[in-house]
Amino acid sequence: MSLSGRAYYSKYIFPKYLKLIKRAMEMVEDKDCMKLKADCWNEAQKKEGIAHLLKNCICIDISSKYIRRASKRYPEVRAIKGSIDKMPFKDGEFGLLIDLSTIDHIADYEKVLDEYKRVLSKKGILLLVSWISLRKDKSNTRKTQYVFNFKKFNLEIENRFNIIKEGIVYERAKSVLYWFICKK
Ligand SMILES: C[S@@+](CC[C@H](N)C(=O)[O-])C[C@H]1O[C@@H](n2cnc3c(N)ncnc32)[C@H](O)[C@@H]1O
Repeated sequence: MSLSGRAYYSKYIFPKYLKLIKRAMEMVEDKDCMKLKADCWNEAQKKEGIAHLLKNCICIDISSKYIRRASKRYPEVRAIKGSIDKMPFKDGEFGLLIDLSTIDHIADYEKVLDEYKRVLSKKGILLLVSWISLRKDKSNTRKTQYVFNFKKFNLEIENRFNIIKEGIVYERAKSVLYWFICKK
């Protein structure tokens, strides 16, 4: 019996995300540093919160609904309304930045990468997940989610960060959910 997208997420993708966060966290020198997680979607769900597992973690989301739900479920997490392409944070404020497929909701993702570079500290670590493919950038209007061209996406990351490790979270016929762990 095949699992629905949501059930598949819970069973396979979410546990992989937790492992990736652990790997990224191992590379962070100051474990007490401030951490930033893009979006509050996970925290708004029943079982898939992440920010509350990390000490000193702030979440930023464009959706008031998800912020409300996340704050209710995890009162200890600071959830802020804002867009990841223009964030209300100081330069170098975060030692770890986690984006689990939020960037692929923004066509102009270069701006997001610029912001991530700006708010990361000197030795900061970025865990970035996005849908990519070898084809041209493509939007799925139903889900307002993009699939970015791998070559260009990879190049834009390399222009700003050092990619330390990378790999596949999940593979579909025409696109791949891909992860990068980068240093500034
Ligand atoms: C499908 S969910 C993200 C996926 C989720 N992190 C996961 O584990 O699969 C998309 C989230 O990104 C948020 N979002 C979309 N555009 C955003 C933006 N410009 N800035 C911040 N959050 C945004 C949405 O409100 C929503 O919470």
